[in-house]
Amino acid sequence: MNVAFFDLERQYRALQTELETQVLGCMRDCLFIEGPSVKSLEAQLADYLHVRHAITCGNGTDALKIALRACGVQAGDEVITSPFTFFATAEAIAAVGATPVFVDIDPATLNINPALIEDAITPRTRALLPVDIFGLPAEMDAINEIAKRRGLVVVEDACQAIGADYHGRMAGTLGNAGCFSFYPTKNLAALGDGGMIVTDSDKIAILCRALKAHGSGKNGYRAAQLSGMDPGDGEMAVSSPASALYDPYKYYNFLVGDNSRLDSLQAAVLQVKLKHMPDFIRRRTLNAHRYTEALAGTPLRLPVTAPKGMTPCWHQYAVMASDKEALAAHLHKAHIGTGAFYPVPLHLQKVFCSLGYREGSLPAAERACRESVCLPIFPELMREEAEYVIHTIRTYYGLA
Ligand SMILES: Cc1ncc(COP(=O)(O)O)c(C=O)c1O
Repeated sequence: MNVAFFDLERQYRALQTELETQVLGCMRDCLFIEGPSVKSLEAQLADYLHVRHAITCGNGTDALKIALRACGVQAGDEVITSPFTFFATAEAIAAVGATPVFVDIDPATLNINPALIEDAITPRTRALLPVDIFGLPAEMDAINEIAKRRGLVVVEDACQAIGADYHGRMAGTLGNAGCFSFYPTKNLAALGDGGMIVTDSDKIAILCRALKAHGSGKNGYRAAQLSGMDPGDGEMAVSSPASALYDPYKYYNFLVGDNSRLDSLQAAVLQVKLKHMPDFIRRRTLNAHRYTEALAGTPLRLPVTAPKGMTPCWHQYAVMASDKEALAAHLHKAHIGTGAFYPVPLHLQKVFCSLGYREGSLPAAERACRESVCLPIFPELMREEAEYVIHTIRTYYGLA
């Protein structure tokens, strides 16, 4: 048997008619940029997540950059984050001119350890950027409490966590702003790149909408005002003679932003998939429970039972194996795909060597990187495939 780590084709085939109808409709509309599908998707996602503003953008990395800027993070600031995450988390911090400060993870949850955050705060710290790794929310109450007491903002990297629940609230909505990715293997996945920022703050929302569109337009004008700048007389632009020919706001730039829009075609795809999200998560959860039950008794460290009040969305199922390389080789020989998330902790990435971290600086994250093997968990994984994975692992440990 061959078991792919992720089989994208199955989801496409299962939803083919719905997807193709939506995409074709979008092609026929010819409203490719900021079309009606983008607006309705944003409304549906705001509703799904119970949040005031959902602002789509080009990808999750851009969402992080835009959210950090909108929350006031700028050159010279420090942002505290987890070293056990995809590179984009820290890359976004560096891209806005700030310095990532890494705090070790809790080895049980694999999320940033709130008990270690205070020691990393300096007068330059501006924000906390926790990550809901593998779809399990970070300990946001403790993180928000620290932020409130120390006057910091919280941007939640929920790129892997759409659909996870934290004490009755949705992951991504727990800080000042939250960021999502719609990368094709995410729980809610586009047929290409896509991302989103969510927030309950009107001010952050205006800034995000401005920053994702060149800092132009009405949002750009209002964002400049909110940033304490004097954007000049925007009304004058509207009444200038050229206004008969073009939307003058569009060509007046008030901030230097980005071009980071979600295509209307991708929004149409995401609208179809959003309807199936509860089912996707139900199936991922079933797969996770199947693994957890059947792999108990092996030498593997299995994902922690979610802390009370949290329901993960099971983006990944990561087991910790002291013999990771040998186990992964055994699985590959049996034609089972695995993921290596993440082989290098971010504090030891070459690009961050000037920050002064060494091997041993953040031992829990380093150990997780040495030991983590992710098993196939995608919603369309079949029962017999999961059973084959389990059997292969149990055989490897001499337990089958
Ligand atoms: C935790 C985390 N942060 C950020 C990103 C970046 O998202 P994107 O690939 O859409 O830019 C990802 C996606 O891979 C991610 O998993």
